[in-house]
Amino acid sequence: MLKIGPITVDPGILLAPMEDVSELPFRLICKELGADMLYTEFVNAEGLLREDPEGPRRTFNKLRFLPEERPLAIQLYGATSLSMEKATEIASEQNPDLIDINCGCWVSNVALRGAGAGLLRDLPQMKEVVSRVIGATHLPVTVKTRLGWDQESIRIVEVAKMLEDIGVQALAIHCRTRSQGHKGAVDYDWIPKVKAAVSIPIILNGDVVSPQIVKEAFDSTGCDGVMIGRGAITHPWVFREAQHYLQTDELLPEPTFKERAELCIKHLHLAVEHDGAKYALIGMRRHYAGYFRGVRGASQLRAELSSYKEFDPLLARLEELRETDPERIAA
Ligand SMILES: Cc1cc2nc3c(=O)[nH]c(=O)nc-3n(C[C@H](O)[C@H](O)[C@H](O)COP(=O)(O)O)c2cc1C
Repeated sequence: MLKIGPITVDPGILLAPMEDVSELPFRLICKELGADMLYTEFVNAEGLLREDPEGPRRTFNKLRFLPEERPLAIQLYGATSLSMEKATEIASEQNPDLIDINCGCWVSNVALRGAGAGLLRDLPQMKEVVSRVIGATHLPVTVKTRLGWDQESIRIVEVAKMLEDIGVQALAIHCRTRSQGHKGAVDYDWIPKVKAAVSIPIILNGDVVSPQIVKEAFDSTGCDGVMIGRGAITHPWVFREAQHYLQTDELLPEPTFKERAELCIKHLHLAVEHDGAKYALIGMRRHYAGYFRGVRGASQLRAELSSYKEFDPLLARLEELRETDPERIAA
């Protein structure tokens, strides 16, 4: 069970914040499949403040969510306490359940500018940013971070204590360092060490891709929640399967081809409804590999679906696929 301020979810299997992926339509899909809590993709604090309220508000739109997505965290990133404070005020007006601060993004144009994982190199600045965010909102504030900047500077236990002391209400830890990016082994052994040092909920993240790993993560580390990123892109059913496995110790059968096509069609409709056809068709390209993973001829199918420029023929093709025996899709 994961309790963050007034929010309780059980057991606590969360969809990770992922840029251009954890958008509203995909979040709805993951929620329906059993994700206990959702995060928006990270929202650039400076970008939010710079945006002309009369113009197209691309950054502001990332704060949008629907009531059925609750509980939901809006994740913000930024290097300066002033921009993060102001962005928090704007984000809080949307009344999400939580404000999450990104202290883990590794990409250079974020981390080397002092935001994201960059804050792991300057803990006084992390403290300042997080304190100002907490002071700027009535909502519970959480942090997502990594073990440390690199293998030589793993300070996650100290970071967790500092964050707890200033009022952070939960901490999600991607169990890699910044220098690892998304590669190399995750080290879950830090989770029990952090748990022993603080009493706020600790959420484990990194390479959780199956129901068995979800269970193992809960059982072996004592984490309070598990957060799934790439595993949800490659297989959004992982939430349903993990929920079922935790309850019954049994594995659900793989989704059928028809189920795969149906979910893809549903996602497409949601994306068109919320983002318009042009953006939806581009955004869907990130998801075909997951929906049709393991199907014979999957890579050709993905390339074919990605080539559509109009909604109607794409939908017609997906509907045709839905009624097709997967064997006939072979190369
Ligand atoms: C495409 C992509 C976009 C991401 N965007 C964000 C983001 O906006 N905020 C964030 O905190 N982490 C972001 N991450 C990191 C994930 O939330 C997660 O920490 C990481 O992928 C490790 O978890 P996983 O092995 O389950 O994917 C992103 C990861 C990917 C693959």
